[in-house]
Amino acid sequence: MTQVQDYDSSNYDYRNYWKGRSYEHLSEVVFLKELIFPDNSSFLDIGGGYGRLSNLYKNFKFPILLDYSIKNLKNADKNLIRVCADVYNLPFKDSSINHAMSVRLMHHIENPSDALKEVSRVVNNDLILEFANKNHFIAKVKHMFDPNFNSTDLYFQTHKKDSQGWKDSQIFINFKYEYIESILKKSGFIVKKHFSVSNFRNGYAKKFLNTKFLVLLDRTFQPIFKKTLFGPSILVYALKKDITNNKVIENVEDIFCCPKCKGDLKKLSCHNCGVTYKKDSGIYNFKG
Ligand SMILES: C[S@@+](CC[C@H](N)C(=O)[O-])C[C@H]1O[C@@H](n2cnc3c(N)ncnc32)[C@H](O)[C@@H]1O
Ligand SMILES: [Zn+2]
Repeated sequence: MTQVQDYDSSNYDYRNYWKGRSYEHLSEVVFLKELIFPDNSSFLDIGGGYGRLSNLYKNFKFPILLDYSIKNLKNADKNLIRVCADVYNLPFKDSSINHAMSVRLMHHIENPSDALKEVSRVVNNDLILEFANKNHFIAKVKHMFDPNFNSTDLYFQTHKKDSQGWKDSQIFINFKYEYIESILKKSGFIVKKHFSVSNFRNGYAKKFLNTKFLVLLDRTFQPIFKKTLFGPSILVYALKKDITNNKVIENVEDIFCCPKCKGDLKKLSCHNCGVTYKKDSGIYNFKG
């Protein structure tokens, strides 16, 4: 059984993670801005937490913030379409989402091939995917005498079981670029661009240099950083191989389906398996 990293099972408040990390945030934003252009269609942020990046997509006609944690969704902007669901079982019809993004989710995903296959089922046009880079510069130096480090094997980082109030052990996986590219390809995406992000995620650099200056260095030296996959975090932009005409929708509920059996829903009740889902405090709850 695939384990899901359930942020609702601990008293951890993910918003606290971002205190003192304005450099990492802005380093992501500067590159995401080059990839996101609001239009009259849908944008799905998968594992989007409390919507840290929602300013970038809130002007799409259907800005959908999806996360497994009700707690994170409750902390998000109420104007977003908030959906509680699991990336392995998305509550959307085939090809019903035009643009999608997933940042800092992959490191929690034990079975990335299954997750990306499901993402590909619902996405019609493009996907921005961030992943933790196994072979970043400092890791390469640390593991230079380990002959196996260069393989495409997933790298599981160890975390203390009870750190920050987590009840279960945490999943934290780093991936090799070629591995992500190959599973994207198998699930029907072609990588068109990538960026190396948070290249200066280092206590000394952050302490002595101004955040905006560090972000400017990220941008200026990006050709070198992306070629060498220097940074701890990589953003890829991928297009679906077989893009179809984007379907015009009037109401987001028109694109929902049952996450369990993919049957059609009427008033959030599945015609096929009979399960009824709820909308509580403005959040569509498909967690089950
Ligand atoms: C490290 S946070 C990143 C949040 C956001 N993307 C950001 O960058 O600020 C990871 C998020 O993934 C969500 N998550 C973990 N496993 C998930 C799953 N199987 N399906 C959907 N969301 C999941 C968590 O609830 C959490 O909000
Ligand atoms: Zn069903």
